[in-house]
Amino acid sequence: MFDRKTGMTLPMPSGFSVAAMLLLTAALLNPAYADDARNAAPATIAVRAAHLIDGLHEHPIEHAVVLIEGDKISAVGSDLPIPAGAQVIDLGEATLLPGLIDCHVHITSNPGDYYTQLFRRSPIDQAVGAHVFAERTLQAGFTTVRNLGSPEFIDVALRNAIDRGEVDGPRIVAATMPLGATGGHADDTTNFSPYLAFHQMTAIADGVDAVRKQVRFNIKYGADVIKFMASAGVLSEEESVGAPQYSQAEMDAIVDEAHRWGRKVAAHAHGTEAIKMAIRAGVDSVEHASLIDDEGLAMAKQRGTYLVMDIYNDDYILAEYARLGYPATTIQKERKVGLLQRQRFQAATRSGVKLAFGTDAGVYPHGDNARQFAKETDWGLTPMQAIRTATVNAADLLGRSDKVGSVAADHYADLIAVGGDPLSDIHVLEHVQFVMKGGVVYRRDGQPIAVAH
Ligand code: ARG
Repeated sequence: MFDRKTGMTLPMPSGFSVAAMLLLTAALLNPAYADDARNAAPATIAVRAAHLIDGLHEHPIEHAVVLIEGDKISAVGSDLPIPAGAQVIDLGEATLLPGLIDCHVHITSNPGDYYTQLFRRSPIDQAVGAHVFAERTLQAGFTTVRNLGSPEFIDVALRNAIDRGEVDGPRIVAATMPLGATGGHADDTTNFSPYLAFHQMTAIADGVDAVRKQVRFNIKYGADVIKFMASAGVLSEEESVGAPQYSQAEMDAIVDEAHRWGRKVAAHAHGTEAIKMAIRAGVDSVEHASLIDDEGLAMAKQRGTYLVMDIYNDDYILAEYARLGYPATTIQKERKVGLLQRQRFQAATRSGVKLAFGTDAGVYPHGDNARQFAKETDWGLTPMQAIRTATVNAADLLGRSDKVGSVAADHYADLIAVGGDPLSDIHVLEHVQFVMKGGVVYRRDGQPIAVAH
């Protein structure tokens, strides 16, 4: 019998009539039944591999067995007995890890020509194309992402379609539209003629009342997390890269309002002062954090604020963005912060501040997310610490440690496998060979996979 989840041919249970098998096959092939087939609780699955980095222990578990019931893990251990009738997925010498988490992506867009993106593409194009990037991200081993900004509510729609099983992609924690000040990093028409306007929804909001209302609006239509622009940025046309763009009172109001509604807050901030203002306001994470000084590190450490530093990005921007037609000012800004951000990342690794993995995928192509691991180890983390940034730490930042980020009983069965040992060669994480999300296999190199829709 062909199993649509795993693409594997399974032995037929005895006493199974040909008629019953034909009926079942017809049901599985009929799209009307596909959702049922996918949601039906499968028998126990046992995933075996030589090694398991579970996210929790200091050392890998050898001869690992992970037992899965439905979409959850039921047991994990070394040489666990495999229940009779379980479907066994034997990954041989591979290393298993928790499904990876990227805490900063823009899942609806990929890098492209500046003029085309601004003037010939609309949110409708992003809505149509986003599923492709979601699938690439999942295939690269990222089973959860936090999407820190999409036009309108595209990330909410994509999240929901993925959760319904209609589109293949990672679990999405959606920010929807990032809040930003007039003329700031989120304001796409900054420095254009004042007669030129885009008629699309944005979250440009000024003043304490307006930012509170915008937080409520984003949440009303599906935001899981609130993102705001505390400082200027690189790929926008303001002069500065790091100047604060909201007052302390506005930042305080955003965080207060979001937390009241049970949503965490991520602040985009490159500049030293804006970073501190955001930390003071009580954000849950500072994104980029490029020019954080020692005082900022101490403040973040004391308050438990996560830093999400996208230290792979610089390579791609400097290599590609001039060719893509970006204004010279943006490239110059990248030159200003790229190296400093890596140096401050290194200082952060020494300071004991909390670090979570976030890459800004979408600024560079989706699917290359894992390239940041090698940057993290080049700039101060051990391979195990780097893996933690994208597993247990990331899950903690998302407030989902009970469900994702480690291979443990009662967690979602989100697992990946790589061919080598990531603790001796971190680059193997760039070549994921097996991906399971919620007990469903989406990738198994060398084996056919047919995921039901
Ligand atoms: N989205 C960010 C911005 O435009 C990208 C920053 C990338 N540069 C970096 N060194 N991390 O500000």
